[in-house]
Amino acid sequence: MEKPKVLITGASKGLGLAMAELLAADYSLILHASKIENLAPATAGNYVLCADLSDKNELNNFCKRLKNEHGDLLYAVINNAGIALDKSIIFQPEAEIDKMLALNLKAPIMISKVAMKIFGLKKRGVIINLSSSVGETGNAFQAVYAATKAGLVAFSKSLAKEAAMLHDEHQIRVLCVSPGFIETNMTDAIPENYRQKYLEMIPAKRYGQAHEIAETVRFLLSDKALYINGANIPVNGGMV
Ligand SMILES: NC(=O)c1ccc[n+]([C@@H]2O[C@H](COP(=O)([O-])OP(=O)(O)OC[C@H]3O[C@@H](n4cnc5c(N)ncnc54)[C@H](OP(=O)(O)O)[C@@H]3O)[C@@H](O)[C@H]2O)c1
Repeated sequence: MEKPKVLITGASKGLGLAMAELLAADYSLILHASKIENLAPATAGNYVLCADLSDKNELNNFCKRLKNEHGDLLYAVINNAGIALDKSIIFQPEAEIDKMLALNLKAPIMISKVAMKIFGLKKRGVIINLSSSVGETGNAFQAVYAATKAGLVAFSKSLAKEAAMLHDEHQIRVLCVSPGFIETNMTDAIPENYRQKYLEMIPAKRYGQAHEIAETVRFLLSDKALYINGANIPVNGGMV
């Protein structure tokens, strides 16, 4: 019998790749990146569904294919793909604002809409949205990025409540994971003087590693976490 399916968006590198490597043993994975060639290291033995999720047409087509090709066994979606285009809001072009809103917020909303329909039929399923500690704290030069991440928290909490209103007995859970500063391509782009400032704010006195986010996701997907719902789980070395 095929294992339950888990979609991981942005599985080509960073946190998504670490999740793919860790979850492959327990689930049948649907891996996503913007282009198939970016996924090369992680595709073996997994399904692949690629799209530029900041593009309205590609996003709609992706959602249709997710439902039609994987709706039968879909157990979870991990909305992980995201971008941070750090800049003062004064100088941020509208096109960059639109891109962050589309990829970081609208895409998880549309993918969750499909997932909630599928999960509603089985009364079981998990959505994990990758938020960020800056969604709670705010961060200079990340105003739009932080807004998208805060939006995901409110969205996830609302869906968790909605599932309870729609279904008497169910195991549908909607969660956020909020990483602090984790070493990936995304944080490699941060200048060294800022990296040092962040380090001073982390009680653990080190940056986080991608596998530490992947381990959290693995636990949240499991039945050991059945009583955790509508929560935003911080994984940030104590940074507040
Ligand atoms: N790293 C951190 O410290 C940190 C902290 C807080 C929150 N997060 C969040 O965690 C998530 C993963 O971060 P990361 O550090 O692993 O980032 P990353 O290494 O930059 O990887 C980003 C992923 O998103 C995909 N992606 C980018 N643009 C896309 C588009 N237009 N359409 C579809 N996919 C696209 C990339 O695919 P391609 O290879 O095809 O471009 C890649 O797989 C993000 O949502 C991020 O905001 C990260």
